[in-house]
Amino acid sequence: MVGHEGGRILVTGALGQIGTDLVQSLRDIHGSETVIATDIREKQGHPCIENGPYTNLDVLDKDKIFKLVVEKEIRIIYHLAAILSAKCEENSDLCEMINLEGTRNILDAAREFNLRIFAPSSIAVFGPDTPRKAPQITPLNPTTKYGMTKVDCEILGMIYFEKYGVDVRGIRYPGLISWKSPVSGGTTDYAVDIFHAALSEKSTYDCFLNAQTRLPMMYMDDAIRATISLMDEPIESLSSSRCGYNISGVSFTPEELVFEINKKLPNFVCKYKPDIRQNYADSWPDSIDDQISRNDWNWQSRFDLESIVNEMITNLK
Ligand SMILES: NC(=O)c1ccc[n+]([C@@H]2O[C@H](COP(=O)([O-])OP(=O)(O)OC[C@H]3O[C@@H](n4cnc5c(N)ncnc54)[C@H](O)[C@@H]3O)[C@@H](O)[C@H]2O)c1
Repeated sequence: MVGHEGGRILVTGALGQIGTDLVQSLRDIHGSETVIATDIREKQGHPCIENGPYTNLDVLDKDKIFKLVVEKEIRIIYHLAAILSAKCEENSDLCEMINLEGTRNILDAAREFNLRIFAPSSIAVFGPDTPRKAPQITPLNPTTKYGMTKVDCEILGMIYFEKYGVDVRGIRYPGLISWKSPVSGGTTDYAVDIFHAALSEKSTYDCFLNAQTRLPMMYMDDAIRATISLMDEPIESLSSSRCGYNISGVSFTPEELVFEINKKLPNFVCKYKPDIRQNYADSWPDSIDDQISRNDWNWQSRFDLESIVNEMITNLK
């Protein structure tokens, strides 16, 4: 018997923003050899490749997924491989293929081999008709292609749970802020890029959202804690929100973030040059009601804006 609950853990899309932090945390908890990192790309020197087992895996390659699950005695998959919001709007065919077919392949493997699956959702499931503080249970009418694939994945997860008994769990992540990995392709990327720019020699940043765009955000440590604790929760505790639990961290505007950064770096200057991503952000809510996650699995965030800014500047320096 190996690793976690008699098997190993596989992470898809492990070289991305969340995978970089999640793989490390899972290896700290369960041991390096128990956690198999996979991604479609190789990145020399990446900690997920250096610090434990790594395999190339395209989530569209269903045969390889099935083969790996058997060979490596996988019990749990954290399925992070996806195309993010801004990139999805540029290439909707690719977005649909990776986000939907990739997820379906992972769910099929779960059905065949009785695996537990984490399949993340996003606040992009909400649309312009969502109340500014997004409730857990509300009509989901996203206007972005990315958001539509995330709604479809939540529905697909519920179908596999109800019809085939597959234990699928998911969180509607807000925009995530972290320092270990670069970000690209997301609408909330500004809240990471801004720190790199603030600490650069020029100490200026052109923000692609306007100064007053309030969005739900979260520090990566909170997101990783939420992910692992949801996956460790007994199945009986989870309700019909299991494939897309709302979780709330902090909500702020670019202007408020700049104000907080300026307390530490007074010379930093931010200019506002909204691009197409402003439209995506405008279709999303300001904040998130996470009462159901608090009730079902005792969720509570820890990082506020001030502590996020402190952590980011200290670690990036
Ligand atoms: N980061 C955020 O702020 C955020 C917010 C909401 C939801 N999410 C969701 O969380 C998940 C992970 O996000 P992330 O920020 O780590 O994304 P990311 O873009 O940083 O990483 C995704 C990874 O998937 C890999 N990938 C792409 N196509 C693949 C394929 N065909 N097969 C295997 N791997 C492939 C990429 O190489 C990349 O390393 C996604 O489902 C995303 O929609 C993220």
